[in-house]
Amino acid sequence: MAGVTLRNVTKRFKNVVAVNNVNLEIRDKEFLVLVGPSGCGKTTALRMVAGLEEITEGEILIGDRVVNDVSPKDRDIAMVFQNYALYPHMSVFDNMAFGLRLRMLPGTIGRLTRRAETRAINDQIRKRVETVAEMLGLTQLLDRKPKQLSGGQRQRVALGRAIVREPKVFLMDEPLSNLDAKLRVQTRAELIKLHRQLGITSIYVTHDQVEAMTMGERIAVMRDGVVQQVDTPLKLFNEPANLFVAGFIGSPAMNFVPSLLEGDAGGGYVNAGSFRVRLPDCMVKSSSKIDAYIGKEVIFGVRPQHIYDKYKSLVPATADNMIRCNVDVSEPMGSVVTLYLTSGQHFMVAEVDAETRAVDGAPVDLVLDMRKTHLFDKETERAIFDEGTVRDAD
Ligand SMILES: Nc1ncnc2c1ncn2[C@@H]1O[C@H](COP(=O)(O)OP(=O)(O)OP(=O)(O)O)[C@@H](O)[C@H]1O
Ligand SMILES: [Mg+2]
Repeated sequence: MAGVTLRNVTKRFKNVVAVNNVNLEIRDKEFLVLVGPSGCGKTTALRMVAGLEEITEGEILIGDRVVNDVSPKDRDIAMVFQNYALYPHMSVFDNMAFGLRLRMLPGTIGRLTRRAETRAINDQIRKRVETVAEMLGLTQLLDRKPKQLSGGQRQRVALGRAIVREPKVFLMDEPLSNLDAKLRVQTRAELIKLHRQLGITSIYVTHDQVEAMTMGERIAVMRDGVVQQVDTPLKLFNEPANLFVAGFIGSPAMNFVPSLLEGDAGGGYVNAGSFRVRLPDCMVKSSSKIDAYIGKEVIFGVRPQHIYDKYKSLVPATADNMIRCNVDVSEPMGSVVTLYLTSGQHFMVAEVDAETRAVDGAPVDLVLDMRKTHLFDKETERAIFDEGTVRDAD
């Protein structure tokens, strides 16, 4: 087992900087998800770890060994791609055993006759393939050819083929994107279970933030080749370091409202023109940066999940946290209703209780959970409430 470390890693393709000075530490046995929009450099980063792409600058370590000049086959890694290809003419068993057969050639076991050795190797291979097949629910399918399998089953064979090799590090690049939505959710859960069983250090690439949130022990969010924030799913959701992470993680996306930050003896206020709400005192007092922004334009952020219908609010409605909006459209989703709202010139989205009284085209009173709100610097886009901010006084 081993962790993976990227130290100041950069990859340039002529004038394109695909990966820009990335520092990342994936711990031993950890499941880390690398997430970001298309073209942000996820695949390139993974291919450098695999040894399939040369590193322009920096170092990659597997365990404590620098692997920059180590060939892919000597890195003890296994990789599963989106477009995995199974050998169509081989059975499931042979697809899974193929890589092992190449590795365990006669001469690797010791002083047996050649025939005895071949038999010993075949036994070992059979045992390993059968164990992994059992784990992945493929036991009954070992004699089938790939074309006799469903998409999900094929995907599991591709995973199995990688797992039988017992790699130190497992690299996955959007391995579920060919599956339909239901199968994807199911396979997602299976992959997590498998990781708990095997404990192989894993890097999982996806552009889907829901997949990242549900699978990652930690998530690294990338944008334009640069890692924006690395943390647990909850920490990214609750304390995004900048506007990009705030908007990328969470669905529906966080509302951003350009506002004026006002402060007086009474406390700190967010003035969005069409509404004015008050920041909790504990947040204002404990934040080291906020004073510098009083009287300035900031971006106010609030998640749709932290806006309540006044009549169904989890936080008491007061003059300091209520806003009146117009309901443009409401979408009943079953357990919640998504409201598309207008407040003055601002468009906002709220996800409220299914029993909301909101009516399309009519005003609605909503309550913001101010302890869950965010402020961002307009220029640098960095979060103003930093790690030291106390959000809950009690
Ligand atoms: N071989 C290459 N030659 C030139 N540019 C490349 C090459 N491979 C990737 N790039 C560029 O590097 C950047 C990062 O590409 P990469 O494939 O790593 O993105 P990605 O995050 O995996 O995107 P996606 O989610 O679409 O798979 C892109 O701008 C891409 O066009
Ligand atoms: Mg990619």
